Amino acid sequence: MANELKAKDKQGIDLSNLPSHVAIIMDGNGRWAKKRGFPRVYGHKKGVENVREIVETCADLGVKVLTLYAFSTENWIRPKSEIAGLMSLLGKYLVSEEKTLNDNNIRLRTIGDTGALPKPQRELLEKTMRSTEKNTGMVLNLALNYGSRQEIIRAFGILVEKGVQRASEQDISSSLYTAGLPDPDLLIRTSGEQRLSNFLLWQMAYGELYITDVLWPDFKPQELYKAIKDFQSRHRRFGGIKAVQT
Ligand code: FPP
Repeated sequence: MANELKAKDKQGIDLSNLPSHVAIIMDGNGRWAKKRGFPRVYGHKKGVENVREIVETCADLGVKVLTLYAFSTENWIRPKSEIAGLMSLLGKYLVSEEKTLNDNNIRLRTIGDTGALPKPQRELLEKTMRSTEKNTGMVLNLALNYGSRQEIIRAFGILVEKGVQRASEQDISSSLYTAGLPDPDLLIRTSGEQRLSNFLLWQMAYGELYITDVLWPDFKPQELYKAIKDFQSRHRRFGGIKAVQT
């Protein structure tokens, strides 16, 4: 009987208790490449290949929102050639993935100041967002030229312009780039660094952190399953004393 009542599971994951919103800091591409004697941009190329796999795996599991930290406001200080490599990979990804996103009913959106990205990437983003806007499955949320402090400052600007005198939590949440999305339940950071690095500072107030030493290009679906199972073993209390089933 207990077994009959147990929610369907996949790879040992309880599908009735999935994190609705998973956010990932995809770190370690450079180290992955260096360890193998390749240029850093090759690590990013392998990183993008992994993005494909993880996006499909999340959509297949039934995750509702997947946010990927693809380019931060701080990443502009990297060498010009690496920035150009990352932008080129983003463009290629958008061209090659449009069909897969549609086939998997995935809707693309972005957070961050995308207006500062090169024109071809901006245009490809707009095209892909338009082509996927009616999809009803997972939202793939790419953080591009994203910085959480910049996002919060921008939100203050929006509220001041609206004449809001005393902003509520809801006022602030709905003025962030992530307006309309649930806060992340689980934030995964690869490559062992134990920082938020200006990512979703407001939204992560109660989100669970999962840090793994695995470098992003090696973070395969089995690693994602491990992270979700770990999440499911935790007791989220949201400041109270009783565990809350989310
Ligand atoms: C961190 O690795 C990774 C980034 C700064 C960029 C992540 C970008 C991608 C995976 C590719 C672009 C994404 C899409 C969706 C097309 P790092 O270079 O900081 O690695 P390191 O810490 O080992 O040097």
